Amino acid sequence: MRFIRQSALAVAYLCVAAVAAIGNGKIKPKVMIITFFDSEGEIYLTKSNTTGALDFRAQQHRVPFASPEFPYLRCTADGAACLMTTGEAEIQAAATTMALLADPALDLRETYWVLTGIGGGAPDRVSLGAVALARFTVQVGMSYEMDARELLPGFDTGYVPQGTESPDAAWGSVYNSEVFEVNAALRDALTAMIDPARVADSAAAATYRANYAQVPAFAPGAAPPAVHHCDSVTSDTWFTGALLAETHARRVDLWTNGTGTYCTTAQEDGAVLGALVRGALESRVDFARVAIVRTVSDFDRPYPGQSVMDNLINGTVGYPIAIENVWVSGNSIARGIIGAWNETFKAGVPATNYVGDVWGSLGGTPDFGPGRVSGGEPVVLPGAKVKGNGTGGASAGVSGEAPPPAPPTDAAGAGAEAAKGSGK
Ligand SMILES: *[C@@H]1O[C@H](CO)[C@@H](O)[C@H](O)[C@H]1NC(C)=O
Ligand SMILES: *[C@@H]1O[C@H](CO)[C@@H](O)[C@H](O)[C@H]1NC(C)=O
Ligand SMILES: *[C@@H]1O[C@H](CO)[C@@H](O)[C@H](O)[C@H]1NC(C)=O
Ligand SMILES: *[C@@H]1O[C@H](CO)[C@@H](O)[C@H](O)[C@H]1NC(C)=O
Ligand SMILES: *[C@@H]1O[C@H](CO)[C@@H](O)[C@H](O)[C@H]1NC(C)=O
Repeated sequence: MRFIRQSALAVAYLCVAAVAAIGNGKIKPKVMIITFFDSEGEIYLTKSNTTGALDFRAQQHRVPFASPEFPYLRCTADGAACLMTTGEAEIQAAATTMALLADPALDLRETYWVLTGIGGGAPDRVSLGAVALARFTVQVGMSYEMDARELLPGFDTGYVPQGTESPDAAWGSVYNSEVFEVNAALRDALTAMIDPARVADSAAAATYRANYAQVPAFAPGAAPPAVHHCDSVTSDTWFTGALLAETHARRVDLWTNGTGTYCTTAQEDGAVLGALVRGALESRVDFARVAIVRTVSDFDRPYPGQSVMDNLINGTVGYPIAIENVWVSGNSIARGIIGAWNETFKAGVPATNYVGDVWGSLGGTPDFGPGRVSGGEPVVLPGAKVKGNGTGGASAGVSGEAPPPAPPTDAAGAGAEAAKGSGK
């Protein structure tokens, strides 16, 4: 999320060589840094001369179907790391990620995807400038929404999971983009690469966050920025205020079966991950190589006595350090992965938790949600090869004539599917 639009089109500020084909003739980055708008991408370029910085100015490659605002993939001279900017919010993030997956110039099978962007932060978990590495991202916008002035008796929020009749009924009509879970062991390994002493702070942020010290539960928000493990929510709507933050925190709890902890807001994470699941199903990417990093530019709710609009407008003092910390975390992680490639990262960091979507499309048993589609086996697309198996899946057949598996029945029982059908 950004606060102001800095430039109309940021496409042509550099003119460098096209990315040279390497290895099998394709661009085969070890790390793909994903950013979402101009300032998040540009910080990697403006830091290029800093000691220890990866220099993404060396090469560029035009990605067909990328955002017209950000058409170039930029890579280091050796091609080990690349940087992409998707455009903001869910539609653009999904479309650009699909563009990368579909680009025949790229070989992304061993690539680590590191999402680095700024977002809002919950003051009971994180402070301005904080770096949060997630295990889950939850699409809280996937809801029935009724205006607060028309709330039913007993309702304390107008957000209700689709296909249900109560804010606390977890699963009704499932679209399969509600929750994505990533590799917690990878997250832990990448966290160790970020030096907490290098996390940027500022006097302006310190002054602002001091306002939160009057609430004991907001002690994390009143403290200097740190590195955290907690989860992001994805929503096109830039929500603000304690009531919506509490509603969405509750949804994270519900939809992750109590495992996730809401701490940052984002407009893209689930959209990128939804595309990456499809990439994994086509064996183009390894979904166990995905990390979500959000840095906190502003608080999701005001301090006592402050209006929501005052916090929204005047609470942006964390923006410069959040942008700085996008680079601090992303550059450190990319260097760490490349530096330990042979001994650790080429083979991959095995996930000990479930990774994937709500339905278990990639195999395994989701530790949240209403159940898996395919009994713990990965979905096999018609005509696709089973990863690491080499044969066509029994369920699909080598000829690829069988249809994809049917989605699971609604957890909420009869009526939910009808509700979905009539809802839009
Ligand atoms: C960074 O280095 C390049 C050449 O290596 C130089 O042309 C450029 O002016 C430098 N930029 C900054 C901001 O120092
Ligand atoms: C933002 O802060 C300024 C300076 O304190 C104040 O005049 C203004 O009303 C604030 N904006 C909002 C929306 O509260
Ligand atoms: C990593 O392995 C490759 C291929 O075996 C080798 O060429 C390269 O020198 C190794 N890199 C390091 C840093 O050991
Ligand atoms: C959710 O948590 C409960 C309580 O720990 C557990 O019994 C249940 O199996 C979990 N659901 C899933 C899908 O793992
Ligand atoms: C390979 O795929 C087939 C079809 O899905 C399955 O029956 C078999 O168990 C798989 N073998 C391995 C080693 O995963």
